Amino acid sequence: MSRRLDVTGLPVDAILVAPSLLACDFARMGEEVARVKEAGADLLHLDVMDGHFVPNLTLGPPVLQCLRKVSDLVFDTHLMITNPGDYAEAFAQAGADHITFHVECVQDVRAVIKTVRALGLSVGLSVKPKTPAEALFPYLDEIDLVLVMTVEPGFGGQSFMADMMPKVKELRQRIDASGRKIHLELDGGITAGTVGQALAAGANMLVAGTSVFRAPEGAAAAIAKLKSR
Ligand code: DX5
Ligand code: ZN
Repeated sequence: MSRRLDVTGLPVDAILVAPSLLACDFARMGEEVARVKEAGADLLHLDVMDGHFVPNLTLGPPVLQCLRKVSDLVFDTHLMITNPGDYAEAFAQAGADHITFHVECVQDVRAVIKTVRALGLSVGLSVKPKTPAEALFPYLDEIDLVLVMTVEPGFGGQSFMADMMPKVKELRQRIDASGRKIHLELDGGITAGTVGQALAAGANMLVAGTSVFRAPEGAAAAIAKLKSR
C-alpha cells in the first residue's frame, strides 16, 4: 500500500478512535483490521512490548509488514520497549506511520525524537501512570502526540485509572498554551462508561482495545458510542 497520512494529517479538534490490535483475534488479524476500518476506526493502534520495559511480549516489525499490505489505516505504533531508537527504522520500514515511545526508558529523548522524524514519521511521547506530566513539558515543542497511559502498560482489558485525569487536564492546558497541533491520546480501559471522563479532561484521541474488538454489539456501534459525547 502507498504511503498514508501520519497523525499530523488527522484533526486535533475531533474525537479520533484508535482500536488496539492487542484485543483482536490474532488468528484472523488481517480480517480484524479490515473490520475495524469498516467500523469507523480513524487509525490503528499497535502495541509493541519487549518483556523488559513491560512484562509482556506482543508483536514486531514482521507483523506490521504483513498488515501494511492489506490496510491503509494510519499505523499508530506504541513502543513499550527499551531502546526504542534502535528499532525505529525497522518499524518505519515495516510500514509504521507514527511512533510513540516512552519517556521513562530513554536517556536522550531528543535524540530519539530526531531519529523518528528523520525516518519521515510523526512522533509521540508517552508517560506511565506514575510519571508526572512535567516529564513531557520540555519536549512539547518537538512532538505531534502525547500519550497518557490510563492503565499500567503491559496488558489489555484493565480498568481505567480515573485518577490520571488531573494529569490529562494539565497536559491539555500546556498543549493549548503551546499553540501547536498536538494530539492528546489516552490508552487503557476506554469504554462507553469511561470515555466521558477522558474527553472532559481534554483527550481527543482514544485507544480502545477490548471495548471495540470484543464489543458484543459490534465494532461500528462501539466506535460510534465512543464518539457520541
Ligand atoms: C496496554 C496497551 C493498550 C491496551 C488497551 O499496555 O498500551 O493499548 O491494549 O487495551 P484496552 O482498551 O483493552 O484497555
Ligand atoms: Zn497502547
